Amino acid sequence: MEKKLIYIGSPERSIIKKLKETKYQFIVFHTVKEFADRYDKNEEFNIIIIDASLSQDELYAFEGGGNKSTVILAISPEESIQEFLYSPVADVIFDDYTPSSIIEKKLDRFLIENMDHKRDYLDKLEELEKEKEEKVYQLELIKDINLILGKVLQLDELLSAILKLALDFTEGKSGAILMLEEQSGNYQVKSFHGLDGEGVSGVRIPKDKGVMSTITQNNIGQIFHSKQEVFHWEPILPIEPDFKSFIAYPISSSNGIPAIILLYDKLNGSGFSRNDYEIVKLISRQAAGSVENARLYESIKMNYYNTVRALAIALEASDPYTRGHSERVSSYAIIIAHSMGLPQDEIHEIEYYAILHDIGKIAIPGEILHKEGALTESEYEIMMTHSQIGADIIASIGFLQKVTSLIRYHHEHWDGNGYYHLKHEQIPVQARIVAVADAYDAMVSDRPYRKAMTSKEAIIELKKHSGTQFDPDVVKVFVQILERFYGQN
Ligand SMILES: [Fe+2]
Repeated sequence: MEKKLIYIGSPERSIIKKLKETKYQFIVFHTVKEFADRYDKNEEFNIIIIDASLSQDELYAFEGGGNKSTVILAISPEESIQEFLYSPVADVIFDDYTPSSIIEKKLDRFLIENMDHKRDYLDKLEELEKEKEEKVYQLELIKDINLILGKVLQLDELLSAILKLALDFTEGKSGAILMLEEQSGNYQVKSFHGLDGEGVSGVRIPKDKGVMSTITQNNIGQIFHSKQEVFHWEPILPIEPDFKSFIAYPISSSNGIPAIILLYDKLNGSGFSRNDYEIVKLISRQAAGSVENARLYESIKMNYYNTVRALAIALEASDPYTRGHSERVSSYAIIIAHSMGLPQDEIHEIEYYAILHDIGKIAIPGEILHKEGALTESEYEIMMTHSQIGADIIASIGFLQKVTSLIRYHHEHWDGNGYYHLKHEQIPVQARIVAVADAYDAMVSDRPYRKAMTSKEAIIELKKHSGTQFDPDVVKVFVQILERFYGQN
């Protein structure tokens, strides 16, 4: 026989919903009087719930269910509690200061304890609770993502941050982020973790290859539960890790798909779940705006840089003796920096720096800059101000801030006898490298007052001034490179 529940009062919609979920047949009476008048005294019921919104008089009028099997739950303001002390009240919920969620929770517990179909209801509750937890988790995740990604503007850093978030939140083992190359329309590995660097760094992947084609054509993610399933298509990376499951998800914007996230397996060796996939989806969607901004920022940076670079090159081009000087210095400096094992970001700085190191010469009068013959002491003084002027010009370009001190110190001497008297490691390493590259290129180029030296003669000069004008380590590395290239003699 179906069980009955009586509710006296005016239940809120959420409580009605809850009562419906219990599968009890429930009847609502708005007042105690209505209940007394209309309910057949001989008909049994199992639960009475008394609503606290009833007036004091109504509560006084209530005499209990009058049936021994009746269980009463009162939802009551605190001051009404005594009204129930003599009634078989199962629980009292003080609703005047209790949030409705707590009332519902108590109601839930009460109903569960008094129900036959407890199991079904518990399962349903658990499911709802899980769903709620997932939602809360996703909200927390969104907060974390925004907090982390909001701070990063550099594209490279941003991509590593996105990958780290995706791996952390899915407990993923390895992964990569591919970035769209505007010109070819293909994707390139820009950030990776837990994968063989040699095999994946900078690798270009055609957009129409295997899984990639589904992602790029349909702008949808993919989750696979076996390597065979993925390779039914085609491997993405040239050296795929050994994996059980795989998620690929596009980071899309209104302009297309600028990036794609790839994740391989979980740290505990298991495969990815649907929930992991949802997390990656959430991260991709949240990250899309930041990626787009970083790409824009990157292109603005490049425009700035290209303008200044064009200026530097135009300045040199006006003088046949210095044409191409900065670009050659840049090439030498990058090779030296690589051989010395400088980190990638410092090598990257050298690339900008070396091209721009003499930009300050733009403010040096032509008669000094192009003078055919040795400079007088005062002319030399003016000439040397180009380091500071160059630093001042570049300081106004935000993203080149780091390069300004390198430009300022590009004529420092290792032994402290330079323009600013910085000594040894006080001089930034990139400035020490460019000083050697700069001097070498000047020596092997024609000047108005002398012919170009041979490489061998320039090497002798570098060695002669190693430890005084030049950093001996830089000279040693550069001489080895030159000798390897030109031969010992
Ligand atoms: Fe210079």
